[in-house]
Amino acid sequence: MAGYGGKKHVMKDERQWLLPGLAGKTAVVTGGANGIGKQICRTLGRMGMNVGIIDIDEDKGQKTLDEFETASLSAAFCRGDVTNEKSMERCFERIHSHFGGLDVLVNNAGTSRNIPFEELDLTDWNAVLSVNLKGAFICSKTAVPYMMKQKKGSIIMISSGSALTGSGGSACYAASKGGLNSLVRALSRELAPKGIRVNGVAPRSIEGDLLNKVYTAEQLKRMQKKIPLGRMGTYEDVANVVSFLASELSAFLTGETILLDGGRTFGA
Ligand SMILES: NC(=O)c1ccc[n+]([C@@H]2O[C@H](COP(=O)([O-])OP(=O)(O)OC[C@H]3O[C@@H](n4cnc5c(N)ncnc54)[C@H](O)[C@@H]3O)[C@@H](O)[C@H]2O)c1
Repeated sequence: MAGYGGKKHVMKDERQWLLPGLAGKTAVVTGGANGIGKQICRTLGRMGMNVGIIDIDEDKGQKTLDEFETASLSAAFCRGDVTNEKSMERCFERIHSHFGGLDVLVNNAGTSRNIPFEELDLTDWNAVLSVNLKGAFICSKTAVPYMMKQKKGSIIMISSGSALTGSGGSACYAASKGGLNSLVRALSRELAPKGIRVNGVAPRSIEGDLLNKVYTAEQLKRMQKKIPLGRMGTYEDVANVVSFLASELSAFLTGETILLDGGRTFGA
């Protein structure tokens, strides 16, 4: 595990808010080296959690770890592929033994292909379903035995608004996220008696690299006008909802996927 031996439980300047049940606990965030996942790691770290970052991208993972250590956040990085069971067993085992627990899993690693349906082939379909849905299955399956020992845990799936709306040219992505929403419901029923809650966040219209690649500045302006709250969402917005779902504030919430879209989908 790269960057191992980092500081534990040390918080200085970056600690901002505290939610009940998070400080000193351990979260694993897949795809935590970039974008939304990185912000989730940062926010949970600021709330006093130990954060195990899993990502397939070694360079970004190491860079993220260095940044967090400079900010005195408690983190460790494990390079791993969420589609590979053995790789995940190794990462979870290392993170668990390093921090001495596993309380929260955020299944965030995701990928997409923007391909019209007529051109979508099985290779692309499998590539997207494999990371987005199979990956969440493998990581949940790996995390649950650790959580069961503690009789407590929170699993959070990062879905997408496109599970409800489709995404106009990425059927495999929308289908994978719809699958995640169903997995939230199914797992929540099975795991509730073991003290494990399972919820999701479905972001839509989040500003950042992903939308910048697909839309022009003009199109993004038009999109913003359709959002009743009058602005695009941010990575921080997603990370804040994840923190709520990880914390004791959501202790009676399970089986729910929260649509995070500024009111756009069911707005005007
Ligand atoms: N950005 C958005 O607007 C948006 C909207 C809705 C939902 N989402 C979802 O949020 C999540 C994060 O999106 P993002 O925009 O930050 O993406 P991103 O591409 O910036 O980051 C994804 C991370 O996952 C990692 N990853 C990819 N495949 C992996 C694998 N097989 N094993 C381990 N790590 C892997 C990547 O290396 C990367 O660090 C995804 O699940 C995405 O579908 C994003």
